[in-house]
Amino acid sequence: MFRTFRGGQSGGWRVTSMAPVKGDPLPFMPALSVNDSEAVALPLVPSRNSWRLVGVASHLRYTERAEKQELVAVQAGLGRAEATCAALIPIRKTPAWWDLTADERRAIFEDKSHHIASSLRFLPAIARQLYHCRDLGEPFDFLTWFEFAPAHASLFEELVAMLRTTEEWRYVEREVDVRVVREVLAA
Ligand code: HEM
Repeated sequence: MFRTFRGGQSGGWRVTSMAPVKGDPLPFMPALSVNDSEAVALPLVPSRNSWRLVGVASHLRYTERAEKQELVAVQAGLGRAEATCAALIPIRKTPAWWDLTADERRAIFEDKSHHIASSLRFLPAIARQLYHCRDLGEPFDFLTWFEFAPAHASLFEELVAMLRTTEEWRYVEREVDVRVVREVLAA
């Protein structure tokens, strides 16, 4: 139920870059591990040699039926062998965003920013999963996770650059962009 991303000294993914896009950065760590657990003790206790972020894959808030059908028809799942590159992008939105009603947020998210409509063309190359953590008292509201093949790395840059110019992103107050590659164990 809980997915934990731990930046530290070891893990299944090697960190290639960590960029503070907006707001406070996270300390650089050379490796990232990704784990699932049925329970976590909150708040997560800070450590000098690692950071941990936890989120829950939750229900859809804004996606309409037709959009869901379009997504399901083309999207790829996580864990593809060829998808050896990944990005963890934790995001926190402003109090002004959370003051809006759900229909006002949907209007900004899709009607004005076309988050879904404009992102569909990046599927299935980019596999994705959104984790919610605002209600867990975490430092971010969302942990976004993407997996893709090295051949699609520039496509992913295009995707994030596009979303960061949208009206929705004016409500982002903290964003860190962590890029990783799958650690290959020597035979
Ligand atoms: C691969 C292309 C992408 C697709 C198809 C996609 C699709 C979606 C969908 C359908 C939702 C709405 C979920 C709901 O109804 O609650 C969503 C939410 C979200 N996406 Fe994306 N997305 C993509 C890329 C990205 C990227 C690259 C980022 C970050 C840089 C991102 C950040 C978010 C965030 C933060 C939310 C939560 C918004 C909120 O609830 O306020 N997405 N995305």
